[in-house]
Amino acid sequence: MLEVRGLSFSYGDFSIEGATLEVKEGEVVTLLGPNGSGKTTILKAIYGLLKPKERCVFIDGRDFHGLPIRERAKLAGYVPQSHTPPFPYTVLDVVVTGLASQLGPFESPRKEHYEKALEKLGLLGLERLKDKPYTQLSGGQMQLVLIARALVQEPRVLLLDEPTAHLDFKNQVKVLGIVKRLAREEGISAIMTLHDPNLASLYSDRIALVKDGKIRAAGRPHEVLREEMLRDVYGVPVCVLEFDGFRLILPRTEVIQ
Ligand SMILES: Nc1ncnc2c1ncn2[C@@H]1O[C@H](COP(=O)(O)OP(=O)(O)OP(=O)(O)O)[C@@H](O)[C@H]1O
Ligand SMILES: [Mg+2]
Repeated sequence: MLEVRGLSFSYGDFSIEGATLEVKEGEVVTLLGPNGSGKTTILKAIYGLLKPKERCVFIDGRDFHGLPIRERAKLAGYVPQSHTPPFPYTVLDVVVTGLASQLGPFESPRKEHYEKALEKLGLLGLERLKDKPYTQLSGGQMQLVLIARALVQEPRVLLLDEPTAHLDFKNQVKVLGIVKRLAREEGISAIMTLHDPNLASLYSDRIALVKDGKIRAAGRPHEVLREEMLRDVYGVPVCVLEFDGFRLILPRTEVIQ
């Protein structure tokens, strides 16, 4: 289980103030909020790419930022919003880099590492791209490869920053389905950011609404995705419809013909 107890961080002119979150084993929690509200900053500070003001991240009760880097890599996997490698590695090699922390300093990846990487590529339907240079992939394909790279670590906690940003309709559903299944079947704690409140509603156990560096509300999708709250956070009128057991969130805007 991931616990974030009062995370604070400042870039100078932008701060995260006292973000508190819990992601239980098997749960998917989504950070939802406008551009620049602090979602990526929160994920990076949880993962340790940014240093919070105080130690505040615990995985299964252990102070995550106090652990050696190899232990941290076994516990948590991070999928960045975007990533450009410096060399034209093949797709398979990029996925294998997810295992770097499990190898010794001069140790090369072995057969079993490549097999594990191929298995994760297969899970995401990417086997046929394994020998292609990563730099020649489409944005959506790159994103799927980065997800495979995080999965190959078989982490307890998975952090995904806009995992659906460049994906087509089918792959959005596929990737979020995989995240949910991993949470349910492997007991992974998943925390991600999304922009689409409808996808967040469908795939999250809980949602945290972020605005101006603060978590404004957190709870089950039906508790958080309310017209007034969404209007307050995004500054646009929103209409929430109940349909066939689903919630549909639509902007209440004038349609220009
Ligand atoms: N490296 C940085 N140095 C200084 N300020 C930064 C840096 N990175 C981000 N910021 C600022 O921090 C704020 C929050 O940025 P962040 O990337 O966390 O937002 P976000 O919610 O992920 O937005 P988006 O939905 O557009 O990805 C923004 O005002 C941004 O300008
Ligand atoms: Mg972001």
